[in-house]
Amino acid sequence: MILASLIPLVLALPSLAQNVTALTGTWSSGSQNVVTGPGFAQPANESFTYPPTTGLSYSFTSDGYYEIARYRMTSNGTVPSCITGVMNWCHGTYDLLSNGSIIMTPFGDGYQQIQDPCAAQSNFIENYNDTEYYPLWNIYQDTVKGYTLQLYQYDGTPLAPQYLLTASPNMLPTQPLRNVTPPSIAAGGTTQNAIALTGRADPRWSLSSLSGVLTVVSGLGIASVLL
Ligand SMILES: *[C@@H]1O[C@H](CO)[C@@H](O)[C@H](O)[C@H]1NC(C)=O
Ligand SMILES: *[C@@H]1O[C@H](CO)[C@@H](O)[C@H](O)[C@H]1NC(C)=O
Ligand SMILES: *[C@@H]1O[C@H](CO)[C@@H](O)[C@H](O)[C@H]1NC(C)=O
Ligand SMILES: *[C@@H]1O[C@H](CO)[C@@H](O)[C@H](O)[C@H]1NC(C)=O
Ligand SMILES: *[C@@H]1O[C@H](CO)[C@@H](O)[C@H](O)[C@H]1NC(C)=O
Repeated sequence: MILASLIPLVLALPSLAQNVTALTGTWSSGSQNVVTGPGFAQPANESFTYPPTTGLSYSFTSDGYYEIARYRMTSNGTVPSCITGVMNWCHGTYDLLSNGSIIMTPFGDGYQQIQDPCAAQSNFIENYNDTEYYPLWNIYQDTVKGYTLQLYQYDGTPLAPQYLLTASPNMLPTQPLRNVTPPSIAAGGTTQNAIALTGRADPRWSLSSLSGVLTVVSGLGIASVLL
């Protein structure tokens, strides 16, 4: 099991796994162009400002709030010219559990934009309100990049390492920022209030049809693959 192989790595840093002071701040992967806060998502009108490169960014306050910004592109193995782009934003409250895991519970005002030029519905925005569970995390000092946050998904797969951008978190206000009608179970919990920007509705679209690296456990108990 992948998770078991990670345990020695985590045991090396037992105090950091509980250290909320160390976690507080804004973290960003790669070239750090994706950053939480007003430069990424504008919830009032459900829009995004596209960064120059893909990546992910997590922010945490010392008093239990988080925000996530993600921009991912996935190429289609069968049709390489078909590239799906996903912009995803959410925020809410997090809990550090004593066994080293993190649970992030969203406020319900998150949203994402999915663009796929090859799909019938090629560009749309939908609500995103998945509770996310990370069984393991640790922070280490990279000799070049400095403090580095490593989050692991439910199956032990590591997310891209994120480097500390600012110890003072760069975040939107830590409260619901737009009104959302809770989705019905019948709608699958994902497509209610979806806005089709171009094209028409396509039943092929669901979170589980996207391949990628981030698996989350939704509030409805449905495991869905997003990014
Ligand atoms: C927690 O992290 C802060 C900031 O990195 C550090 O100053 C402090 O010594 C750490 N505390 C423990 C118990 O590791
Ligand atoms: C959304 O709001 C932001 C911030 O007020 C503004 O800069 C942007 O132009 C708006 N976008 C759309 C599509 O209305
Ligand atoms: C790749 O594109 C084709 C044609 O649009 C589509 O049928 C197929 O489901 C896509 N595959 C993936 C993994 O997205
Ligand atoms: C940590 O504890 C939570 C709550 O009891 C549990 O759901 C989760 O599976 C545990 N995670 C690990 C890695 O043991
Ligand atoms: C979002 O998810 C949370 C946690 O599962 C739930 O309490 C809340 O009702 C959901 N909100 C919406 C608008 O779906």
